Amino acid sequence: MKSAAVTNPRSRCARAGFRSRGRNLLVALLVLLALGAAGGAFAWYKFFREEAQPEWITSDPDMRFKYGSIGAERDAGIPYWIFYVLPRMFPDKLPGPGGYAAFGVVWEEGLELPVGFSKKVVGFPRVANNCASCHTTSYRTQADAAPTFVPTGPNHTLNLWAFFRFLVDCAKDPRFNADNLMAEINLVTDLSFIDRLLYRFVIIPITRKRLLEREQQFAWLYREDFPPWGRGRDDAMNLTKYFMIRWPMDDSFGPTDMPSLWNLGKYRADQGMRMNFGGDSHDAYSVVIDSALGLLGAPPKDRDEFLGEVRWLIDYVSAKRAPSYPFAIDTAGAERGKRVFAVTCAGCHASARTGTVIPLAEIGTSAERIGTWNERAAREANAVVEDMGIERAGLVEEPLRGYVAAFLDGIWLRAPYLHNGSVPSLRDLLEPPTQRPTTFWRGYDLYDPDRVGFVTTGPEAARSGTLHNVAAKGGSNSGHAFGTTLPAADKADLLEYLKTL
Ligand code: HEC
Ligand code: HEC
Repeated sequence: MKSAAVTNPRSRCARAGFRSRGRNLLVALLVLLALGAAGGAFAWYKFFREEAQPEWITSDPDMRFKYGSIGAERDAGIPYWIFYVLPRMFPDKLPGPGGYAAFGVVWEEGLELPVGFSKKVVGFPRVANNCASCHTTSYRTQADAAPTFVPTGPNHTLNLWAFFRFLVDCAKDPRFNADNLMAEINLVTDLSFIDRLLYRFVIIPITRKRLLEREQQFAWLYREDFPPWGRGRDDAMNLTKYFMIRWPMDDSFGPTDMPSLWNLGKYRADQGMRMNFGGDSHDAYSVVIDSALGLLGAPPKDRDEFLGEVRWLIDYVSAKRAPSYPFAIDTAGAERGKRVFAVTCAGCHASARTGTVIPLAEIGTSAERIGTWNERAAREANAVVEDMGIERAGLVEEPLRGYVAAFLDGIWLRAPYLHNGSVPSLRDLLEPPTQRPTTFWRGYDLYDPDRVGFVTTGPEAARSGTLHNVAAKGGSNSGHAFGTTLPAADKADLLEYLKTL
């Protein structure tokens, strides 16, 4: 254009015109650029700027584990004010009264959010989950006592199944729209004019879309032929299958208890030990990476920062120790029980076999959990993580054969027992499978020192628990008949000893 104007003698006028039009264009472009930059800065500020969490969370390791962000707010977070008003708007979709407490979340007195829920500003305040939502537990020693909270303990009260469904069900409801949500939000907070617009036109529609996107992957939670998971259980490998490698739904179903994470360093990969109930992961580092990626729901924004968080988590859970039994122990009985244990149990739970997979044929417990995962799934999941440029030993690329014989530290607080939580107490586990309870309530936090487990019968247990039926899919209490033929006195001694672990 420029050269044409110069070479064309008739273009004086045109040239002048071009020049002024060029100047106008330039000005317009600069204005646009400036606006664009301002718009970009505005958008960045309103949607992406990250604010550090407060000191009380970041400076105390227990608080950091319970409420600290692991970076999940960015892609998997729910806008704080939407999270806040959902139970008020949709009480009909909660499993009971009391807002989020109805899901059996662990909730410390006076705190804004339950344990395992992190709040962080990424443009605007968002809520996401961290490890503590499943890996922190609580118990009470008496019906009128305050709960004791144990970070790294297995959450036995959380109704994760109901929580996942709640979020999707709310988003599916026609009442989930900007008018209704804004009306509720305006009742509880005073957002600026701009923030109201952003919530109404951007944040609410996007949140709804994101939640609805999960429906397909959560399809197996809605199957009529599958029972609810029940409190304290999680179908973790199916979650990995449907969310991480996006497999189509199959007929497998294998919810397990949440495991304890304390003293994690006892699992020595270099000695052939494996992680997860089915021994499907090589080492703690891999499990923590995969768990964190699951929570993030997307590749980490900053890989080094992410791996730093993983390291911190591993150090934290490795340094924790199981809490000691909070009731009296008959020490003479425990001494005798130690000898019973050495003969009957140590061969798997305190030996070179500990932490390794014991073949299913030898254990005879429910096979359904190992049916939820396989070699090909492991290969695909490993490829997904590798594509993110993250190196780890990863998931075991072999068929699953059985279950890991776990270390038994803090076993008193890991009820109900077996990988699928099908046996209410240690006393019941020492009964032959056919004599163990066939139905019981799980998720009530009152401890039963007599049976060594939680209270699983009676009106209070029924009120706060979910029913476990051993005849339901994934619920079988068969197998692990070790010690069940011991004389009653030996069983009593063994129980005393187990309390000391
Ligand atoms: C939604 C609940 C949930 C969340 C959140 C969660 N986990 Fe887990 N975790 C589980 C369940 C359930 C298992 C057992 C899975 C199985 O073997 O079937 C498990 C297993 C593990 C294990 C293996 C334990 C063992 O003894 O083999 C480790 C380690 C672990 N999780 C760490 C973490 C960390 C660290 C985080 C946070 C980054 C995390 N988990 C987040 C539920 C959860
Ligand atoms: C042949 C090996 C073997 C022997 C012997 C054995 N166990 Fe186990 N134990 C296992 C395996 C494997 C599991 C996991 C099974 C499952 O969850 O399906 C297990 C699970 C358990 C659990 C449940 C752990 C949890 O977190 O729910 C307890 C408690 C337990 N064993 C105690 C004992 C006691 C007490 C004895 C001795 C009377 C004993 N075991 C003997 C292999 C063994």
